[in-house]
Amino acid sequence: MNKTGIIFDLDGVIVDTAKYHFLAWKHLADDLGFEFTETHNELLKGVSRVRSLEILLDIGNIKLSEEKKQEILISKNEDYLSYITKMGPEEILPGVTALLDTLDGLGIQYVLGSASKNATLILKKVNLFERFIGIVDGNSVFKAKPDPEVFLLGAKMLKLKPEKCIVFEDAIAGVEAANAANMISIGIGDKQTLHKADFNFKDLTEISSDFIKELSTIKEKKEQKVEKIENK
Ligand code: BG6
Ligand code: MG
Repeated sequence: MNKTGIIFDLDGVIVDTAKYHFLAWKHLADDLGFEFTETHNELLKGVSRVRSLEILLDIGNIKLSEEKKQEILISKNEDYLSYITKMGPEEILPGVTALLDTLDGLGIQYVLGSASKNATLILKKVNLFERFIGIVDGNSVFKAKPDPEVFLLGAKMLKLKPEKCIVFEDAIAGVEAANAANMISIGIGDKQTLHKADFNFKDLTEISSDFIKELSTIKEKKEQKVEKIENK
């Protein structure tokens, strides 16, 4: 089998922390006096904490000093952490553990590629930290998704060329980052939202061992895209 490696996004792929981010951002919007909906929350998926605040303030049409923004970023994270610290393995999303078992069985290595600065804490809370051979997170990158930096660092950890890496992502920014890195992008969640992904699945329960084996035979992304069109 051709050597491939996997890079997993965390929030929305391994665990459903988007609901906790939403609650924390919503509390903040309530305090600032504007409505923040689940639809608005989609725009924050995959993007860094700082960028999320900028988007949120744009939604509320609110301008704040740098000092106030820093203060808000700290309190938002404290609010978010109040949910995260209560997490346990029962919050691992369906299909994750089975997929990791399959990858272990096939000898395919995997790393984490997340925008979150809380990634290590979350993985430890759900008892998955030890399974990943490496973690690239919001503490190790300068440029946020859709920049490919996070995934290119992941490829280095896997000691593989980018085109040999497969990325699982639930966010538009993340799929764009994977595509920009010339990796195979797998969108997890709504197919229409993630239409730029090379492949789409509702959740990880739909990923079979055969699909992973097939992916390992793809020589490069360009060829695979042609195949995909022909199969339609
Ligand atoms: C991403 C989430 O994984 O991490 C974003 O999808 C979040 O919604 C970002 O803003 C940063 O997370 P954290 O934990 O550093 O605030
Ligand atoms: Mg995500």
